[in-house]
Amino acid sequence: MSIIVENLSKTFKIKEKQKGIGGALKSLVAPKTKLIKAVEDISFTIDDGQAVGFIGPNGAGKSTTVKMLSGILYPSAGRINVNGLVPYKNRIEHVKNIGVVFGQKSQLWWDLPITDTFDLLKKIYKIPSDVYSRNLELFNEILGLHEFETQQVRQLSLGQRMRADIAAAFLHEPSIVFLDEPTIGLDVVAKEKIRLFIKEINRVKKTTLLFTTHDMTDIEKTCQRIIVIDKGKILYDGTIDSFKTKLNKDDFNEAVYEMFTGGI
Ligand SMILES: Nc1ncnc2c1ncn2[C@@H]1O[C@H](COP(=O)(O)OP(=O)(O)O)[C@@H](O)[C@H]1O
Ligand SMILES: [Mg+2]
Repeated sequence: MSIIVENLSKTFKIKEKQKGIGGALKSLVAPKTKLIKAVEDISFTIDDGQAVGFIGPNGAGKSTTVKMLSGILYPSAGRINVNGLVPYKNRIEHVKNIGVVFGQKSQLWWDLPITDTFDLLKKIYKIPSDVYSRNLELFNEILGLHEFETQQVRQLSLGQRMRADIAAAFLHEPSIVFLDEPTIGLDVVAKEKIRLFIKEINRVKKTTLLFTTHDMTDIEKTCQRIIVIDKGKILYDGTIDSFKTKLNKDDFNEAVYEMFTGGI
């Protein structure tokens, strides 16, 4: 079992801003705080090599969950075990085993060409030269990185940048990769390249994947199983086929729509 999540919760405490100058003063003297239950008592397990779609509307708690799984955030309650480690406790050991892609945020060096970031990752993760070359060759084949590998990252299109970010996350051959909206804002061609890549890596390297996206075609083309979350709670966990049957729809998109518009 590569990922075990038990009764996991995350509550954020935020300061509420009050209106106007009087309000600003009040906020200073007697700040009002508000609790946001981003993730509320969720449990699931993911086996080695599984590709799981993690879907839900904006604000559902997906990124918060991914951040806890990758050790960026610590939980308010509950238990997480990833590859035998507790992410937020064993951070250094943990990051060797995982890869993370945040569609909204790049891990690439903005002023350098992608090859420089890749070289840096090779050193950080102590990737053997043969593994490094082999992986880059494979990634190039599917993601077509050669055509822009000498340009500064800041000059790249969103699709090019995202393809490079994905390659960077898989370079050290992590056994688990978290993909948080890696296709956001991309055109169909770029999306298709990313889907192909994810599918191929999952097949060839048996990488365990947790994939967040708003595009149900992304999910249908890459994942066997989905976990559906809303308002911090899991609404469904199972195969896409059973999900469609449960919602009495032939079309996956329609089934998802039905679920979130209160059709059930
Ligand atoms: N750092 C934070 N501080 C306060 N609230 C947060 C923070 N991060 C997320 N939230 C809140 O937690 C909820 C879940 O957010 P998130 O996990 O980003 O949702 P999703 O990724 O599914 O769109 C939202 O209500 C969001 O506003
Ligand atoms: Mg998110």
